[in-house]
Amino acid sequence: ASPLYGKHFLKLLDFDARQISYLLDLAIELKHAKRSGTEQRRLVGKNIALIFEKGSTRTRCAFEVAAADQGAGVTYLGPEGSHLGSKESVKDTARVLGRMYDAIEYRGFGQQIVETLAEHAGVPVYNGLTDEFHPTQMLADLMTMQEHSDKPLGKISYAYVGDARCNMGHSLMIAGALMGMDVRIAAPKDLWPDDIVRQAAQSAAEASGGSLTITEDPKAAVAGVDFIHTDVWVSMGEPDTVWAERIKLLKPYQVNAALMAASGNAETKFMHCLPAFHNPETKVGQNIQKAFGLSEMEVTDEVFESPAGIQFDQAENRMHTIKAVMVATLAK
Ligand code: CP
Ligand code: NVA
Repeated sequence: ASPLYGKHFLKLLDFDARQISYLLDLAIELKHAKRSGTEQRRLVGKNIALIFEKGSTRTRCAFEVAAADQGAGVTYLGPEGSHLGSKESVKDTARVLGRMYDAIEYRGFGQQIVETLAEHAGVPVYNGLTDEFHPTQMLADLMTMQEHSDKPLGKISYAYVGDARCNMGHSLMIAGALMGMDVRIAAPKDLWPDDIVRQAAQSAAEASGGSLTITEDPKAAVAGVDFIHTDVWVSMGEPDTVWAERIKLLKPYQVNAALMAASGNAETKFMHCLPAFHNPETKVGQNIQKAFGLSEMEVTDEVFESPAGIQFDQAENRMHTIKAVMVATLAK
């Protein structure tokens, strides 16, 4: 039986390294099975509700494809159209959906919302991103680092450079700390991780034999690392008015060729959860270019398009890892 049967997946801190490794191994197994055409459908007859109060490409598609591959049905509830967020409370929505569905995915705002859903749903609840954490992304990131390295996870080092006070900064700090990795966070002091999350990561690193460094110096942070991660400078749900300040604070933290070279390791790979601002191709990119005269933000197009960029392997692994979460929690 799965050790995670019936469990929620709300934040990585709720799990230990053994449970996370179980999910990663299962994801690798499911990826091979899909590729070799031997996948067993273990979720036939299950139904999963997908609540998205914010936009999504990868997470939504990962849940939908993973469910279809496993024989489960899904219902997508977007930012508009359901009563959640207007006429009906989180607690009531949880109790309704819990009567119809076998699991509920939630993407939205405060972590407290997904915790409340989980408290009242009576079925497994999955965090598809909150303001504070992005745990399904962490499984994909760990799996991708493992696939691109000959070393075991505990010997891998990585840096996260950019806004460290957001879901990705927090989650990457926690993920590596739990898995015994060498984690470096580079950000201006104003955007350092939340203190409580940092203390939790510090304790996790001490327990796992990993290490955690938080610095304002991006070059020092990336010295010798195997992977450099970044994320957008303004996250979903933040007002456009923060752009000017963020650009000012984070410009020295852009992942460009010089920062990649500062790792001192020609094999260092670049990672990004996506979506990324690396050229003005998108509508948002064009607006930002018009307003601030910058066409590249957290990563240059050169780095993004270089052989070091493994962000699309990472995106694919969202599907395999999310499938692992659903199989582990829903299949006996
Ligand atoms: N990385 C990620 O969560 O992407 P989406 O916002 O497209 O789901
Ligand atoms: N920090 C980003 C991550 C997107 C996957 C955001 O919350 O918008």
